[in-house]
Amino acid sequence: MTMTRALGAICLILPLAGPAPAFAADLKNGEALARRWCASCHVVAGDQSGTTGEAPPFRVIARTPDLDAGRIALFLLQPHPKMPDMGLSRQAAGDLAAYITSLK
Ligand code: HEC
Repeated sequence: MTMTRALGAICLILPLAGPAPAFAADLKNGEALARRWCASCHVVAGDQSGTTGEAPPFRVIARTPDLDAGRIALFLLQPHPKMPDMGLSRQAAGDLAAYITSLK
């Protein structure tokens, strides 16, 4: 592989890795954010009982093969139809993503 092709491959891979690895994610903060902002629709922790039912529990999201922390963080930073735009910072999205994937 030539140098240019190697660089091209790196450029393709890096954006997929998402913002999460760029800083140390804070699991405790992620959990606090999840309980505050996400628990009305998602089951965010084992000790939580009911929700409205339409949204997948975070444990299910954690086990979804294609969703790693980077992808979850990116998902949270983009507008998505079924969820309100919560205006999360990159740090908050990274913390939430780390918390969700820790439930695996
Ligand atoms: C108003 C209800 C609501 C709130 C609040 C909400 N969600 Fe969701 N979320 C949903 C629904 C509904 C889906 C399923 C979307 C679908 O099936 O297309 C979903 C899906 C997701 C997914 C899965 C995306 C995928 O591709 O499978 C993630 C990750 C997620 N939510 C994270 C969060 C986080 C983190 C929060 C809190 C910051 C949050 N959600 C708050 C309703 C909500």
